[in-house]
Amino acid sequence: MAWASEIKEENPDFFTELSKQQAPDYLWIGCSDSRVPANQIVNLPPGEIFVHRNIANIVVHTDLNCLSVIQYAVEVLEVKHIVVCGHYGCGGIKASMEETEHGLIDNWLRHIQDVSRFNADKLDGKEYGEQLDLLCELNVVEQVINVCNTTIVQNAWKNDVELSVHGWIYSIENGILKDLDTCINSIGQLVEKSRRT
Ligand code: CO
Repeated sequence: MAWASEIKEENPDFFTELSKQQAPDYLWIGCSDSRVPANQIVNLPPGEIFVHRNIANIVVHTDLNCLSVIQYAVEVLEVKHIVVCGHYGCGGIKASMEETEHGLIDNWLRHIQDVSRFNADKLDGKEYGEQLDLLCELNVVEQVINVCNTTIVQNAWKNDVELSVHGWIYSIENGILKDLDTCINSIGQLVEKSRRT
């Protein structure tokens, strides 16, 4: 394949080395949207990011799939950073704001409606576009807190493991990633952050 030959031309041992192990520093929790591919957005090659994606980058307390990814990333791969990355114009967030029925997925989108309800004071009175952008951001912040509240991250911090949880948002319109300045790296910071929001 053209992609493989291109990489091998630059670094002949790339795939041989990569096949032996992975040692990523990052766990990425992002949206399934085809326009938001983790590696390309942060410009990192294969082997650098462990990835979990679902519709609207949601971290549900009982989602065994997501929790297993977090556990493996933290306990086995020993990643130093967990990034929850949302994006503006997210179809999942849009759908959660609609009155119409979408079938099974409405049960998943219910988690975003919870985020709307928790933040009604911030969202009320805004026009649609502004509300959508803000909800995309608030959803990231909420999911960062959910990651921090998992037993996995809590135990890591109790054991003095160096681990930061970040909230980022990506703009499909200009390709820019924005840090939502919601980084949490200890139980103390989580308590402080949860109090403010
Ligand atoms: Co999306």
